[in-house]
Amino acid sequence: PVLVVDFGAQYAQLIARRVREANVYSELVPHSMPVDEMLAKDPQAIILSGGPASVFEPGAPRVDKKLFEAGVPVLGICYGFQAMAYALGANVDKAALGEYGKTETFIDKSEGLLDGSPADQNTWMSHGVAVKTAPEGFEVLAHTEGAPVAAMQDESRKLYGVQWHPEVKHTPMGQQLIETFLHKCAGLGNNWDASSIIEDQVAKIREKVGDAQVICGLSGGVDSAVAAALVHKAIGDQLTCVFVDHGLLRKGEAEQVKHDFVEATGIKLIAVDASEDFLTALKGVSEPEKKRKIIGEKFIRTFEKAQRQVIEEAGASGKEVKFLVQGTLYPDVVESGGGDGAANIKSHHNVGGLPDDIKFQLVEPLRTLFKDEVRAIGTELGLPDEIVWRQPFPGPGLGIRIIGEITKERLDLLREADAIAREELSKAGLDRDIWQCPVVLLADVHSVGVQGDERTYGSPIVLRPVSSEDAMTADWSRIPYDVLATISTRITNECRQINRVVLDCTSKPPATIEWE
Ligand code: XMP
Repeated sequence: PVLVVDFGAQYAQLIARRVREANVYSELVPHSMPVDEMLAKDPQAIILSGGPASVFEPGAPRVDKKLFEAGVPVLGICYGFQAMAYALGANVDKAALGEYGKTETFIDKSEGLLDGSPADQNTWMSHGVAVKTAPEGFEVLAHTEGAPVAAMQDESRKLYGVQWHPEVKHTPMGQQLIETFLHKCAGLGNNWDASSIIEDQVAKIREKVGDAQVICGLSGGVDSAVAAALVHKAIGDQLTCVFVDHGLLRKGEAEQVKHDFVEATGIKLIAVDASEDFLTALKGVSEPEKKRKIIGEKFIRTFEKAQRQVIEEAGASGKEVKFLVQGTLYPDVVESGGGDGAANIKSHHNVGGLPDDIKFQLVEPLRTLFKDEVRAIGTELGLPDEIVWRQPFPGPGLGIRIIGEITKERLDLLREADAIAREELSKAGLDRDIWQCPVVLLADVHSVGVQGDERTYGSPIVLRPVSSEDAMTADWSRIPYDVLATISTRITNECRQINRVVLDCTSKPPATIEWE
C-alpha cells in the first residue's frame, strides 16, 4: 500500500482520497506508529501529512531518520515536509512571513516531482514555519515569498517535499503533483478503483461477520443504501434492513424509500413505525445537541427491538443479531469530533449521537470514504440513479430543521413547505445542480404579515440551497429569482401559518449546511 502518515491534519483523509483518485491503494496510519511497523507493511510509497505542530518545538512529532533510509519513495506535505527536512538536518525555523491561503509560487526547476509545472502558479498554503535551507543532497524546486524552500527533491534517494497542500482543490496543479509522485517518482501503476474497493470490503465484511445475523439501518439515502448493497453482496440473506419511520421524515418519504429500495435490491426489509416513541422522547427539547443525542439513542433502541423480528423471520431462535451496518462516511466522523484531534461541530446521529451501551458491533464499510466515492461504488454495484443521486437528507430528519421544540403540528407545516420547495426545484431542473436544499422552520420566531387583508403573526421558512462536493465545505446556490418567487408564493399561499420565506445566503464555513 501507499501509507499516508497522519500528523493530526485536517486533510489527512483528503490525501488518502486523492491517492485513490489516482487509482492507487492507500492506508492511513497515525504518526505514533513506529517506523519499523510502517516498513513492515511493505509500503510502495509514503506520504507525510500536514499537522498543527512546529517541528522545532519540544514535544512536536518527529520522524525517525530510518524512514528515509529504507529506499521507499517519500513525499512530505507541509508539516510532513518540514519534519523530513528537520530529520535530515536542514534549517527549519519560524517563517519571515506566514502564508495562509492562495500563495503565488515560483517554480525554479520543472523537473522530477514538478515535471511539466508552469513557472508561476498559485498554491494553497497554511504555514508559519519555513524550511530555510534544503538538506544535503536535495535540490530546491520552488520558492515563495515566505518559503525559501517551497519544494525540494533528492531523486537518487526518492525523497520529495512541498510546503503547499497539493490535496486541496484550491491548489490547481495539486492532483497532478500527487499523480506525478505516485506514477512517475514511485513508479506505481493503477491498481485501485471502485470495483477494488468493493472486493476489498466484501472480503473484510465476510471475515468480520462470519455466519452471524446482521441488520442495517436504512434511511433511504445513498450512504445507507450503498452500505446495505455492499454488505448484501458479501453475506446475502444474513442481512436484513430496518427502515425506521421516526415521524421526522418528509412527505411521501417512507413509501418511496420502501418501494425504491426493495425494487432495486431485493434485500429483506422490515419497516418500523416508531414515530410515537421518537416524538414523545423529543417533547419539550429544543437544544440541537440534545435532539441529536435523543434521536441517535432512539435509533439504536428501535434496532434492538427490531432484532427479535429479524431473528424470528430468519428461523434462528436463540441467536442474537450481532452486527449493525451503518452508512457512516468520513465527513460524518470528522464533524462529530472523531478525526485525530478534530473538534465536535455537531453529533451526527450515527457517530457522536450513539449511546454508550450499544450492544451491536458496528460494520461501517464507507467510513473512510467521501460522498462522490460512495456514489461511484453505488453505480458499480448496480444501484439505480434514483438512489445513487438522491440528495442527502440527515438521519435526524426534520427534527433538526425545526428551530425550537418539535411538535406534530410544526412537523406537518414544515413537511408541506418542504414538499413545495422540492417540487419546484425539481420542476426547474435543479436537482443535480444543488447538493441539497434544507427547508427550515423558525418555529419560535414570529413576524407581522398581511394576508387576505388581515394581520397575521406567523413563522418564517428558510430556504437553504447549497452546492458542495463533499459537504465539508459548501456555497449557497444561486437559484434563479423566478424559481425562488414561485416557491415563496406557493409556500405562503398553501401554508397559512407561514407569512415570510427567506433565503440563507451563507457559505460553509462560517455556517454549516443544516441549521442545527
Ligand atoms: P452540516 O450541517 O454538518 O451537514 O454542514 C453536512 C451534511 O451532513 C448532513 N447531516 C447529517 N447526516 N446524520 C446524517 O446522516 C446527521 O446527524 C447529520 N447532520 C447533518 C447534512 O444534511 C449535510 O448533507
